[in-house]
Amino acid sequence: MAIPRSAHRLPLAVAAAGATTLGLFAPAAAADVRYEPGSSGLGDSYFPDLGNGGYDVERYHLKTAYDPATDRLTGTTTITATATQNLSRFNLDFYKMNVRSVRVNGHKASFERTGERELEITPRKGLRKLRSFGVTVRYDGVPQPLSGPVVFDLPYGFLATKDGATVMGEPNGASTWFPANDHPTDKALFTVETTVPHGLKAISNGRLLRQRTAGGKDTFLWREDRPMATYLVTNSIGRFNVSTTTTPKGVPQLDAVDPEVASDPNSLDTPRNTTRVTDELAGYIGAYPFTSTGSIVENDSGPPLNLENALETQTRPTYQSPPVEKGVAHEISHQWFGDSVSVRRWKDVWLNEGFAKWVEWYWAERHGGQSAQLSFQQSYDDPPPIQPDRPPFWDVVIADPTRDQMFHRAMYFRGAMTLQALRHKIGDERFLRLVRTWVATKKYGNASTEDFEALAEQVSGQDLGAFFRVWLHAPGKPTAW
Ligand code: ARG
Ligand code: ZN
Repeated sequence: MAIPRSAHRLPLAVAAAGATTLGLFAPAAAADVRYEPGSSGLGDSYFPDLGNGGYDVERYHLKTAYDPATDRLTGTTTITATATQNLSRFNLDFYKMNVRSVRVNGHKASFERTGERELEITPRKGLRKLRSFGVTVRYDGVPQPLSGPVVFDLPYGFLATKDGATVMGEPNGASTWFPANDHPTDKALFTVETTVPHGLKAISNGRLLRQRTAGGKDTFLWREDRPMATYLVTNSIGRFNVSTTTTPKGVPQLDAVDPEVASDPNSLDTPRNTTRVTDELAGYIGAYPFTSTGSIVENDSGPPLNLENALETQTRPTYQSPPVEKGVAHEISHQWFGDSVSVRRWKDVWLNEGFAKWVEWYWAERHGGQSAQLSFQQSYDDPPPIQPDRPPFWDVVIADPTRDQMFHRAMYFRGAMTLQALRHKIGDERFLRLVRTWVATKKYGNASTEDFEALAEQVSGQDLGAFFRVWLHAPGKPTAW
């Protein structure tokens, strides 16, 4: 969705076209209008076919039914979007599921599957620029997880669990279970309506609006009322103990924990840690950006090398196993760094992980643990161990790590070191002002490494070119900055 704040910065051509729809100019005769296909990607160098051009999604309604016994998902996705060009056809990203029908503005549309994850839709009539349109896709199938080196060599996307399913969509896994403009630059509002066998629950983002039981099945309707990137949508299905509260600062909270790990001390602490972190980070960083908080704690000890995998699903992080306090600080910090302020391209992902790791360090410092400066020094002297099949720690270029290394440990640790070194260089007061200005000015939007560098120079009044060059843009251990 377009961020309202940018409305006054519309380029002239767009403003003029807007005037056309207001009838200020005579509309062109239908025959004069040229319609072109929307692009099948958004030019993200790490994921060229992710996202699609020619339209901007405002809202998704995801209606699904899932049966853990068979792993089958049946769904209807309804999308409201605005054309950003005259469209003869457009694409959605959708991985492997069977598409049964597509309607555009209520009319049957033809469609074709192309490439690895493209659903190419041709409406009966062209779609006019700046007009809103509706798309309904009916589908079913067994969602196929993604795998490979991108996310810790773990499967991700829509994943079956012991008692249901969970979703880890980052970076390109949302389209494993619903058709989407699957790139963080097209945020939208979501309602998620999920039907499961009676006795199971479906936990998603935002607030639970309704719950009903009928015909041996339970249906849960959730709504997230702030813009959300597709990779942050969750739909965790299974047995859950649910508790609700409101934080002292007034944020409604909902926590869901798998009963098999409910007595784990970290599970018991998670709601309390979530409350504290949500409110306290707001004090350092700026108002909490969303209208609910919470957690989803799953029971998956995972393969032997599982790195306490978790994802900052919006308003309600998903933890594959009960998290320790710093794990909660990490995922809740992502609500500002990643979820509200999202990457412009996936190569900017250090802005998510570097900040989240730095907040872990800062949280410890504020709570009687070691200072962030000591954490910096330890990582500098003795970086964390790296798997033998990954590039060595100091070889990763943080501002352009390559797709397969986007979650390399250096992205977390050298990213956090960059921020701590910057804090040390420009001073506490300016650094915290930079952080607050960053989340305030980029709220619900997207931002790049270059945007961060420019703001850091502006807030500090210093030329930071050499600093960012050695920390973010060059390989090798920085020695002077
Ligand atoms: N953003 C995650 C974190 O908080 C890392 C990736 C999580 N896993 C995934 N399947 N996307 O560190
Ligand atoms: Zn993270």
